[in-house]
Amino acid sequence: MDLGLRDRIALVTGASRGIGHGIASALACEGVHLGLLGRDIERCQELGYGLREQYQKVRVLERRLDLNQTAAIPEVVRSIAEELGGIDILVNCAGGAYRGKLLEIPDSEWERWFQVKPLGLIRMTRECLPWLRKSSQARVINIAGIFGREPAKFSVMGAPINMATLSVTKALANELGPQGITVNAISPGPTDTGRGHELVKLTARDLGVTQAEAEIHLLREVPMRRVLKVEDIAALTLFLASSHAGMISGTAINIDGGRSRSI
Ligand SMILES: NC(=O)c1ccc[n+]([C@@H]2O[C@H](COP(=O)([O-])OP(=O)(O)OC[C@H]3O[C@@H](n4cnc5c(N)ncnc54)[C@H](OP(=O)(O)O)[C@@H]3O)[C@@H](O)[C@H]2O)c1
Repeated sequence: MDLGLRDRIALVTGASRGIGHGIASALACEGVHLGLLGRDIERCQELGYGLREQYQKVRVLERRLDLNQTAAIPEVVRSIAEELGGIDILVNCAGGAYRGKLLEIPDSEWERWFQVKPLGLIRMTRECLPWLRKSSQARVINIAGIFGREPAKFSVMGAPINMATLSVTKALANELGPQGITVNAISPGPTDTGRGHELVKLTARDLGVTQAEAEIHLLREVPMRRVLKVEDIAALTLFLASSHAGMISGTAINIDGGRSRSI
């Protein structure tokens, strides 16, 4: 299936590793030109170098962006958009949450992670808006998480961060739809990245079992009985970015092997 992505231009936050890294790689494979954003510029450059080698027609720029340093955001977005010639797709993937229970989380961590994810995606979308408005296939895709709808027992922060991400997604879909821009969220279950491995450690600690036992425990909660890979999330991102998804907006799609209890 031709996804209609060749020569589109995408910005990906959180591209330095994990899910964002996988999404950026999948977009490049479809011929999308990329702006790779993260604090760890060396890892973004390493990815960019590999993608330019593999897909010689794809242009890739890397920029250091710390979403806690809000003043830097407009210039980073503007410089990439001007150099690549616009923005069609914004993937807001940067994020995470401090793992722990209420009394274990300092105030500064609440502020830090809200700045990165729900506030970060608001600021990124705002800065990208002038270019998205000009695109004939404008897409905003926010990576949320299943604990937004179904809070985890062991960690309080993931729920409000991801619920806020879903809520902003819906509100922006309402506002930006008439301008031809779709806005959607993807909610992954625990995924095989650095963050996914932290979850195994935390589960082992909470249950008082080994990490191997914690992995088995976590897999029992997944009807498909396997760990989610970044490629699973990247494939859904490609479809939402594609020319076939122009009428999908204001929705959140779980990708969790059936783990969520609600539909
Ligand atoms: N892995 C899972 O199990 C899982 C499940 C559900 C949802 N998610 C969500 O998926 C997204 C990616 O998760 P992941 O598993 O790929 O996590 P990860 O491997 O920890 O990667 C997190 C990404 O966010 C970026 N980031 C963190 N703080 C930032 C800041 N202040 N400014 C700019 N970028 C920042 C990091 O880049 P730098 O360090 O280079 O800045 C990195 O690229 C997150 O939003 C997460 O909540 C993950």
